[in-house]
Amino acid sequence: MWFMRQAGRYMAEYRKIRETRTLIEICKTPEIATEVTLQPLKFGFDAAILFADILLPLEPMGASFEFAKGEGPVIHEPIVSRAQIDRLRVIDPEESLPYVLSTIKLLKRELEVPLIGFAGAPFTLASYLIEGGKSANFAKTKRLMFGAPDAWAALMTTLSEVVRRYLRAQVAAGADAIQVFDSWVGDLAPADYAEFVHPYVHRILADVQTTGVPVIHFGVGTSTLLESMRDAGGTVIGVDFCTPLDEAWKRIGYDRGVQGNMDPCALLATRDVAIRHAQRALDAAGNRPGHIFNLGHGITPETPVDNVKAVVEHVHQASAR
Ligand code: CP3
Repeated sequence: MWFMRQAGRYMAEYRKIRETRTLIEICKTPEIATEVTLQPLKFGFDAAILFADILLPLEPMGASFEFAKGEGPVIHEPIVSRAQIDRLRVIDPEESLPYVLSTIKLLKRELEVPLIGFAGAPFTLASYLIEGGKSANFAKTKRLMFGAPDAWAALMTTLSEVVRRYLRAQVAAGADAIQVFDSWVGDLAPADYAEFVHPYVHRILADVQTTGVPVIHFGVGTSTLLESMRDAGGTVIGVDFCTPLDEAWKRIGYDRGVQGNMDPCALLATRDVAIRHAQRALDAAGNRPGHIFNLGHGITPETPVDNVKAVVEHVHQASAR
């Protein structure tokens, strides 16, 4: 078991480090990114997730951004033209993201549990590049996707090659598993996923899976997309908290693993409520091998640490064989 965003603002130790450093500074300083990655392991998680952000590759590609206070990411010059897409660089991760690979190497010296590396999937990265930040309906992204399919294909091809290289570099540096975050792909109809996303994700995952490390393929709001996401690839399919895990696994097929899917907001209630929700995910997984216990999306900053401790303990006790 591990939690998405397990290193972050719900922890006092993390907030302390953030008082004097920005998120990007933490990511770019391997010693500090290592320290932050290790912080949540005191709760007993079975894996560490590299502290970084899915947006990091965008800057060396030529799309600078910042994390504005209280607003999330802001891309300085959102994509509005084909010329901007053609100017994006296909980076070499060793050259352009050396700090991420150094963090992985430092972590591998310290860790007694496996290390999960990650990247954003091309649709989710494209949505930030085009919308300029978070979006309610992805209207600009879809305008380009539906209205200028050649430009969309060029953008997705460039992003896919960057993500493929970046994930391979993380595995070469020592990552034991990889998660691909296609966080916002649940906003697409299945036919549009098939046409505009599937070919690119498939290309990335088919290549990364030849390294032999397990690949977790995750998105939010993906009830109608689970079979397509499975077909696009992934050793393990991440399931969001709105989809019953037993139904999801049946549809995905028991030859794949599943990850999930407790509602992160159930950690905001009492300890007993949190444990009841954790048990619901365990019951749905039915003691089958191949279930990675996780939340259905990232942990929220308001989460009481005592509930995290209680759920980790409960899952370990209840799933001990
Ligand atoms: O899971 C982990 O512990 C590893 C670290 C991690 C971060 N971002 C650090 C972070 C991971 C895996 C991510 C992935 C990421 N980043 C995603 C995909 C995951 C998901 O939630 O679906 C996305 C969409 C991003 C882009 C991003 N980064 C946004 C939209 C925000 C702002 C959101 C917010 O809650 O303010 C971030 C900031 C960010 N990245 C934080 C952390 C811990 C917030 C903490 C801070 O500002 O210090």
